[in-house]
Amino acid sequence: MPLDQTALLIELEPVVATNLDRHLSLAKEWFPHEYVPWSEGRTFDGLLGGEAYSPDDSKLPDVARTALIVNLLTEDNLPSYHHEIATLFGRDGAWGTWVHRWTAEEGRHGIALRDYLTVTRAVDPVELERARMTHMEAGYSNDHPDEILHSIAYVAFQELATRISHRNTGKATGDPIAEQLLARVAADENLHMVFYRNLLAAAFDLDPNASMRAVTDVVAGFQMPGANIEGFGRKALSIALAGIYDLRQHRDEVLQPVLRQWNVFSRTDLSGDGEAARDSLASHMDSLEVQAARFEEKREARRVRLAR
Ligand SMILES: [Fe+2]
Ligand SMILES: [Fe+2]
Repeated sequence: MPLDQTALLIELEPVVATNLDRHLSLAKEWFPHEYVPWSEGRTFDGLLGGEAYSPDDSKLPDVARTALIVNLLTEDNLPSYHHEIATLFGRDGAWGTWVHRWTAEEGRHGIALRDYLTVTRAVDPVELERARMTHMEAGYSNDHPDEILHSIAYVAFQELATRISHRNTGKATGDPIAEQLLARVAADENLHMVFYRNLLAAAFDLDPNASMRAVTDVVAGFQMPGANIEGFGRKALSIALAGIYDLRQHRDEVLQPVLRQWNVFSRTDLSGDGEAARDSLASHMDSLEVQAARFEEKREARRVRLAR
């Protein structure tokens, strides 16, 4: 029997409670200030008459700066994300405890990244602030605002996507301090992914066909949460060319492992629309494979061309 949205919230509440306990037992307390090299900081121009920002202030590669900006702006839109999940999941019981805990953890990510970027002068602080204003004024809205299963499926993939993107951004900086910070943030994102992944696994057992449909819809329409950042297309392309986050990683390191955990391709409890959704997911994954391979070929050709 398909469950309505309220029934889903009620049925999943004990699963939320169990996974919240699991999360709290595994999450490590950490402090953003410990990850920032404060003594490298210098006063900026303007009110206090310090030194203006110059791109030469930092040795970080351009693409690492671009990725850091995208990752930070994505974290900055937390008020919008909080609004979306608090509206959908509610603020009561285990759901509410999770919503607030998750929000508090995500808040730390933006704080840490901004402090690091400002102190090390890795990016233009005026441009960054203007980009933050533009991005937050646009806000973020969930593609499936009234659908719990779609929303859980989306965040399961999205948390893993941000984990990979943070971790690879850290590597791309070539700065052990940034790498350490981003690895720390990525570890949080991984725990968030596990929480949502476990939740959807339980939903699959409650309502396999509706869960399958939700997963297929979300995979087919997937966009990164920062996709409405100004100039995102250009930024995402340079991030993909640098191998920080590309279609191959999206398919093989984000979608595949989560789909495998839900056993989507070997489930025996699907029928009707669930079965149809699984078929369309399979062909979508095949077409992603073709696109990813094509991108890799083009990137390699470009690398050879530039090396000449
Ligand atoms: Fe985050
Ligand atoms: Fe997260």
